[in-house]
Amino acid sequence: MPAANASASPYPAAMRTAVPLRHAYRLLNHGPTTLVSTAAGGRRNVMAAAWVMPLDFEPPKFAAVIARDTWTRELLEASGECVLHAPTSAQVDLTWAVGSSSGRDGDKFARLGIATEPAQHVAAPLVAGCAAWLECRVLPDRPRQDEHDLFVLECLAAWADDALFADGAWRFAAGGPRTIHHGHGGRFFLTGDPVAARRGPD
Ligand SMILES: Cc1cc2nc3c(=O)[nH]c(=O)nc-3n(C[C@H](O)[C@H](O)[C@H](O)COP(=O)(O)O)c2cc1C
Repeated sequence: MPAANASASPYPAAMRTAVPLRHAYRLLNHGPTTLVSTAAGGRRNVMAAAWVMPLDFEPPKFAAVIARDTWTRELLEASGECVLHAPTSAQVDLTWAVGSSSGRDGDKFARLGIATEPAQHVAAPLVAGCAAWLECRVLPDRPRQDEHDLFVLECLAAWADDALFADGAWRFAAGGPRTIHHGHGGRFFLTGDPVAARRGPD
């Protein structure tokens, strides 16, 4: 399914393809660092978040830790929506930059030249060039949000770069872009090669 407003993106529209909701968990099941975009009251933002994980299959749910001092937290609580992204190895610098500055100090998209596309179900923008995008709404759980900064998100639509994720599985080519994992202090790992467990007798 071609992306809307593809002219705003430097990437061919055919690359972003809808992923069935039953497969949405697979986009983050291997634990990549994410980007979280938000929008509310005419403001938009994006930050890095490593502490994001699948919580349920269908409807797909995700857990995300969003610290209370972030601008993202304010926009997330105001709008009840966000987009989770799996950035690629080509976006390590972008991921670090949006994770080490605040949108309170100015629009990161403009400052960092981040191209976006409109989402289908939420006001938060899609960051162009990622490996996967998950449009989400907050399932309000005030005690968990207040006590642990923990947000439960339901995925409303999922997309992936069809050169990297096809037929329900990641397919990273040698030397090509991959998803990324944060260690600490701006040091990242690339997602490794797949290895399949042998299916023994039950
Ligand atoms: C790689 C990376 C991962 C991060 N993971 C998280 C996270 O899981 N949760 C969180 O609240 N902050 C996380 N941060 C910190 C936020 O991205 C950072 O506080 C950011 O500046 C907040 O931006 P904002 O104020 O514009 O929302 C991470 C930062 C980096 C660089």
